[in-house]
Amino acid sequence: MEQQSTESVAPTATNPNMKNYEEERKTFSWEEIEKNFTWYETGKVNMAYEAIDRHAESSRANKIALHYCDDTREESYTFEQMKLNSNKFGNVLRDLGIVKGDRVFIFMPRTPELYFAFLGAVKVGAIVGPLFEAFMEMAVRDRLQDSGAIAVVTTPALLSRVPVADLPELKHVIVVGQEVEAGEGIVDYYKQMATASEELAIEWVDREDGLILHYTSGSTGKPKGICHVHNAMIQHYYTGKIVLDLQEDDVYWCNADPGWVTGTSYGIFAPWLNGATNVIRGGRFSPKDWYGTIEKYKISIWYSSPTALRMLMGVGDELVKQFDLSSLRHVLSVGEPLNPEVVRWGLKVYGQRIHDTWWMTETGGHLVCNYPAMAIRPGSMGKPIPGTDAAIVDDNGNVLPPYRMGNLAIKTPWPSMMRKVWNNPAKYEEYFRIPGWYISGDSAYCDEDGYFWFQGRIDDVINTAGERVGPFEVESKLVEHPAVAEAGVIGKPDPIRGEIIKAFIGLRDGYTPSDELKADIAKFVKEGLSAHAAPREIEFRDKLPKTRSGKIMRRVLKAWELGLPTGDLSTIED
Ligand code: WT7
Repeated sequence: MEQQSTESVAPTATNPNMKNYEEERKTFSWEEIEKNFTWYETGKVNMAYEAIDRHAESSRANKIALHYCDDTREESYTFEQMKLNSNKFGNVLRDLGIVKGDRVFIFMPRTPELYFAFLGAVKVGAIVGPLFEAFMEMAVRDRLQDSGAIAVVTTPALLSRVPVADLPELKHVIVVGQEVEAGEGIVDYYKQMATASEELAIEWVDREDGLILHYTSGSTGKPKGICHVHNAMIQHYYTGKIVLDLQEDDVYWCNADPGWVTGTSYGIFAPWLNGATNVIRGGRFSPKDWYGTIEKYKISIWYSSPTALRMLMGVGDELVKQFDLSSLRHVLSVGEPLNPEVVRWGLKVYGQRIHDTWWMTETGGHLVCNYPAMAIRPGSMGKPIPGTDAAIVDDNGNVLPPYRMGNLAIKTPWPSMMRKVWNNPAKYEEYFRIPGWYISGDSAYCDEDGYFWFQGRIDDVINTAGERVGPFEVESKLVEHPAVAEAGVIGKPDPIRGEIIKAFIGLRDGYTPSDELKADIAKFVKEGLSAHAAPREIEFRDKLPKTRSGKIMRRVLKAWELGLPTGDLSTIED
């Protein structure tokens, strides 16, 4: 491996929560962090209590917990108001008979109601499954079926994508809308909330009890239900301090939707466990509205993503000058490789270092990060958080020396590690196939000073605009199209989105390639699965490369695409 340039951006700030990274590593213990919670003594816990009620019962009661805005709404809620609203929703669920361990899904766009519902469900001990609003029927069905969901909270606009007839275990559909049509199992959110009690007996659970299910993709099979437990709060709380750098007067904004793990771990748990003021902006990406949001709420900490930052960079430096962004003091990024040029641009136009952070749905929380008090090497993900160890290992578990590329592995365990893959213990075990290590599926190397550098995915998982897409899920949908005989899907490098989804398709007899057909196939995936999983590029081929057992070789498709040698094709069919 070539040695990277030694470009380094010195710290501009110390973090009072962690003055010196190396020192903190030496003295750190998770047990000390646990002592910040009263449940340390009682053994019984509830994430929503620690995130909201604890502050509502303190001098933070009237502090703003949530500033919400979109194109039509602008509302703010104190910790006390968040407590009462989530209590009410907890009662709505309890009246429906929801008990600890039941799976309750939340399938709706970001609004204050989403957060009340989320927290209320956690308060009664339910395991919450947040779903991104762009999901279409097949994606919703797969996730609700796999988890045996009993209730779903949704909106009138999304209701038709919940295929109730295929979901015998689903008993309640709670609809958040001004006019809710009556129907079997339909519950009117506003009607129930209007009369629900503001007092709730919280369900105290064990720290290892289920909290949340995030479905995420691998390279084979349907999406996996990654299950996290209440114990994860230890890591959310701590990384909220040392990575997000949350302090009492901060106004914090995370761009992610709670349908993805960033939008829960760092859009809900970490900021509120730390008693911070959290900004949620609904609606879509818009450079003007985004800068306007920072200006309006005087946001000091901004957690974003490489695709968003690249899009902002594409809009140019002039727009930045039209807004007062001087409130910003800490900027972070996650989800995909952060290009060094974006880091340099951030320094120039925001006057801010952009701190890259690495972790995954499965890890539940930050693992390899950059910190305010540490020099940044643009292009590097940083160093493991105190209390954890990362290494580059080969397939036999040998730790590799600096600059050798291999599996990015994390020493087990850590507090926010997933505890199971729903209904699929074999998938869970695969991550831990090398004793003592969690194998991330990413390849990376480590430099001689301990900075980690991302190199790529080891499997076929696609990362498009920071969203993780499993090729199998897309291929399965594609072959349902009447014209498609076979399909193979890969990530194609893209300067803005990191990767875009490209599908190679073999047509059935009687169909001829055309641009209309391409558009129709893309639309079919968009409407059946989700917009972000639809191929942006389609190429028709007479034959796709396959193994003897009939598996399409995505490796060869990728080589075709990149104009690389296809390697050993001896296992190809003919
Ligand atoms: C995959 C996990 C957890 C946050 C959102 C993504 C890629 C994540 C980085 C980074 C390069 C990154 C990895 C990882 N990824 N952060 N800082 N630099 N790549 O969660 O959907 O579970 O995806 O995203 O490939 O394995 P996710």
